[in-house]
Amino acid sequence: MHICNYSLLFIPNFLRIPNICCTFAPKLRNSTTMRSIIITGGAGFIGSHVVRLFVNKYPEYRIINVDKLTYAGNLANLRDIEDKPNYRFVKADICDFDTIYRLMQEEQVTGIIHLAAESHVDRSIKDPFTFARTNVMGTLSMLQAAKLYWETLPEKYEGKRFYHISTDEVYGALEMTHPDGIEPPFTTKASSGSQHLAYGDKFFTEDLKYQPHSPYSASKASSDHFVRAFHDTYGLPTIVTNCSNNYGPYQFPEKLIPLFINNIRHRRALPVYGQGLNVRDWLYVEDHARAIDLIFHKGTVAETYNIGGFNEWKNIDIVKVLIRTTDRLLGRKEDEDMNLITYVTDRAGHDMRYAIDSRKLQRELGWEPTLQFEEGIEKTVRWYLDNQAWMDNITSGDYEKYYEEMYRNR
Ligand code: NAD
Ligand code: TYD
Repeated sequence: MHICNYSLLFIPNFLRIPNICCTFAPKLRNSTTMRSIIITGGAGFIGSHVVRLFVNKYPEYRIINVDKLTYAGNLANLRDIEDKPNYRFVKADICDFDTIYRLMQEEQVTGIIHLAAESHVDRSIKDPFTFARTNVMGTLSMLQAAKLYWETLPEKYEGKRFYHISTDEVYGALEMTHPDGIEPPFTTKASSGSQHLAYGDKFFTEDLKYQPHSPYSASKASSDHFVRAFHDTYGLPTIVTNCSNNYGPYQFPEKLIPLFINNIRHRRALPVYGQGLNVRDWLYVEDHARAIDLIFHKGTVAETYNIGGFNEWKNIDIVKVLIRTTDRLLGRKEDEDMNLITYVTDRAGHDMRYAIDSRKLQRELGWEPTLQFEEGIEKTVRWYLDNQAWMDNITSGDYEKYYEEMYRNR
């Protein structure tokens, strides 16, 4: 049964009757150790860092990467760990409830870290339907499979975790009350660089009401609500985290940072939306993966944690840092490529400012970013320049068509 087959939506109770052939009674492992973990979306950007961290750090765990391999999924992101004995890749759609349920039985899964999603705002504006399908119905399929499988076990939910990875974009947009910047009220290692400012006096905290604006953030908000509903209704041991913008190696070049590094390298125009004044709060992807590891093991069930580095940047300032860093690493003259900056029509409904307050995570679990932003950007630019084959492989397929559709006539 495919949960995302819309004709099935009208069959009463269809989710309660798994079409599963239970031919064997699974042997019980010690379920409280959470040793058999499904990570969905593990071939994507953040997922690949989480899979790598878990496979290397926990050789005694079994890590099952479930990924449909959409345009954003890339097994080349995991070459260095693909032969490890504690790793298994399963190509599957999270909407395919039967397959997910069967896999949970077969692998006696005790934990789920759910990252699989459609993740790009611009694509969601062009094709919202796909985002509802994957992000909402796909999450529901994962929740229902976990619930039904764990309920068959004698110990039920004991020692289990369903950890849902979400975004700060569900909170909507913050106002830019201080366009010229003010001293930030809080800092972390990520924000300890020279240029660091805050552009407003409000931050996203865990108790804020959801106000998503884009189809992407609306679909993520909806999935977050389903996750919490499964805790509140059935007692499923869930955790939700909402993180700010990530950057680092293996990010698909549709997102600002890898797209612009690649364009600078090829001396292609840099399409800055609007006036480039929108603010994002940037976190190095490995710091996010470390937070996920900590929260998966130590986080409190039913809680929400925000993850971010108090590291706000205006887009235009980031673009200038990217140009300077890329030009320097390529041995070009300083500021030689500033003329590539091209202001284009703004994104529809473009959220002005995101800024995460992650003090709860710091206070309760002791997490902090480890990488200072300028160091992280240097590392990131260097990685993309050193891994041109990875980039060429991605940009040689349908990418050019995507680029034309997204940026032509803009
Ligand atoms: P990504 O687009 O790089 O990767 C998504 C992965 O999910 C891909 O490997 C893709 O193949 C897989 N996938 C998509 N649809 C699927 C389906 N139906 N079944 C199985 N697999 C499917 O995304 P990302 O940037 O790594 O984001 C991962 C998660 O983190 C998402 O849930 C996203 O909302 C969240 N998040 C991302 C950021 C960010 O800055 N990138 C920030 C906060 C939260
Ligand atoms: P993006 O990386 O798409 O992440 P998100 O929309 O989830 O924050 O975009 C980061 C910021 O950069 C956002 O304000 C939009 C802007 N942007 C551009 O100006 N030009 C571009 O080509 C892209 C992809 C993004």
